[in-house]
Amino acid sequence: MLVSAKEMLQKAKAGHYAVGQFNINNLEWTKAILLTAQEMNSPVILGVSEGAGKYMCGYTTVVGMVNAMIYELGITVPVALHLDHGSYEAALKCIDAGFSSVMFDGSHYPIEENIAKTRELVALTDRLGVSLEAEVGAIGGEEDGVVGGGEVADPDECKRIADLGVTMLAAGIGNIHGKYPANWKGLSFDTLAAIQERTGEMPLVLHGGSGIPEEMVRKAITLGVSKVNVNTECQLAFAAATREYIEAGKDLEGKGFDPRKLLAPGVEVIKQTVRDKITLFGSADKA
Ligand code: 13P
Repeated sequence: MLVSAKEMLQKAKAGHYAVGQFNINNLEWTKAILLTAQEMNSPVILGVSEGAGKYMCGYTTVVGMVNAMIYELGITVPVALHLDHGSYEAALKCIDAGFSSVMFDGSHYPIEENIAKTRELVALTDRLGVSLEAEVGAIGGEEDGVVGGGEVADPDECKRIADLGVTMLAAGIGNIHGKYPANWKGLSFDTLAAIQERTGEMPLVLHGGSGIPEEMVRKAITLGVSKVNVNTECQLAFAAATREYIEAGKDLEGKGFDPRKLLAPGVEVIKQTVRDKITLFGSADKA
């Protein structure tokens, strides 16, 4: 059964570790992440962007697949199914479809509008026991066509959104989706410390978790980050392993063209990436 992300993130914040949100794209991705979370006895959040939701034939398909997989694979660790960077409308759709968690990304609206829309969703998600992530200060880079400018959030605005009663808060601290450029300045820990100081118990979310040096991730967790989002690293690992398989001509040997064989190396490296992240975030054995 899917659970809200509330309890797992409050525990993470209190225990000074973070829960990974791993974005899913298809059945292989989902299976790899669920099996690895189970193997490591870690809570896990499956992230679905609007684009990935469309790709997987809509939110109800995703809910059906994830619920069935939890049942068929005997997954007992807490699993939240979470809309990543959703619009207000997408958040409503996902709640209807049976997601246990949603992100409303109002960071591109003027702050008053972000607050008004987030407030409405707090009332709804509270009633339904669905967790809600809000965002202040757009995350840099591009994700599924949504381009952010790499802002650093205003800690006072973070407090205003946190006070609405959201479950977790994403705030720009110089993080970027996708690959980090060579001249990236790193995370702004002063900003993170100021946000944490103003928002207290609120679990903070670090987007763009791929490619951030491990030391910076560890430090961010000590400063209140309780959820780290990872997408690109799994994609790069999957693509590289698949390329290697094809370039070695393995698809031409015997039944190597069978998709269950062709995609297997990619699945294995997704598992390894998730394993490494769970270890780094400290959520192993916290299920
Ligand atoms: P990366 O693709 O950079 O890991 O970012 C993932 C993310 O933040 C999803 O919201």
